[in-house]
Amino acid sequence: MSAVLTVQDIHTFIGQFHILEGVTVEVPDHSITALLGRNGAGKTTTLRSIMGLNPPARGQIQYRGQALNGRKPYDIAQLGLGYVPDYRAIFRQLTVEENLKIAERRPGDLDRKRQFIFEIFPDLEKLYQWPGGQLSGGQQQMLAIARALVPDNSLLLIDEPSEGLAPVIIEGMMAAIRRLTAQAAVLLVEQNFRVASQLADRYVIIEDGRSVHSGTMPDLLASPALIQKYLSAA
Ligand SMILES: Nc1ncnc2c1ncn2[C@@H]1O[C@H](COP(=O)(O)OP(=O)(O)O)[C@@H](O)[C@H]1O
Ligand SMILES: [Mg+2]
Repeated sequence: MSAVLTVQDIHTFIGQFHILEGVTVEVPDHSITALLGRNGAGKTTTLRSIMGLNPPARGQIQYRGQALNGRKPYDIAQLGLGYVPDYRAIFRQLTVEENLKIAERRPGDLDRKRQFIFEIFPDLEKLYQWPGGQLSGGQQQMLAIARALVPDNSLLLIDEPSEGLAPVIIEGMMAAIRRLTAQAAVLLVEQNFRVASQLADRYVIIEDGRSVHSGTMPDLLASPALIQKYLSAA
């Protein structure tokens, strides 16, 4: 198993608060790893630490054998990491095409990726000239993920893609995310355990800023006690 990302015992402070107190995550290539844990556990902060937005004070982060520690978010993205934050951050006044165009890292990225993006998210082809602000919640989430597909990213960090979406929309989103693994590995934060369990190959549970369990998804599904202890509503 070759890991595209290795996060080793990171500690992250936000202001004076010690938010992450030892998080270890390994993401194998071309697979989906789910970060699980209750609200406030530190999942979003883990993604932000990887991207250099909340840089860790201790611990190592390696992407394809290169250390990410000390690099700026822009430089980390340039290495091939795409981040889809939970607030989606699409430009509401810009069309779908313009939202995708400004995600280019090199000239011609969108021309090279447009067909793949349309295959995964057929709605975006139909809505190509619509302003982002007129898309439905599910379509905005598709656009947010599609933007991370425009440059040549080999790791996508996706925060809560199913949040606020209707079940039928979530099904389509899951199918799309599964297809992304043809191009990239995915580290997924997902509160909806049914979604996470159907999508992910591996899991890491975060509790109070620490990674407390990890393994394969079939192993987790065979451990109701673990699910009850860490993942059931408090
Ligand atoms: N900007 C911030 N200032 C202070 N505390 C924060 C900030 N951002 C997050 N936290 C705290 O860090 C903890 C982890 O947050 P977060 O990573 O967003 O959790 P999750 O994504 O698992 O719900 C929470 O207790 C949260 O209140
Ligand atoms: Mg979060």
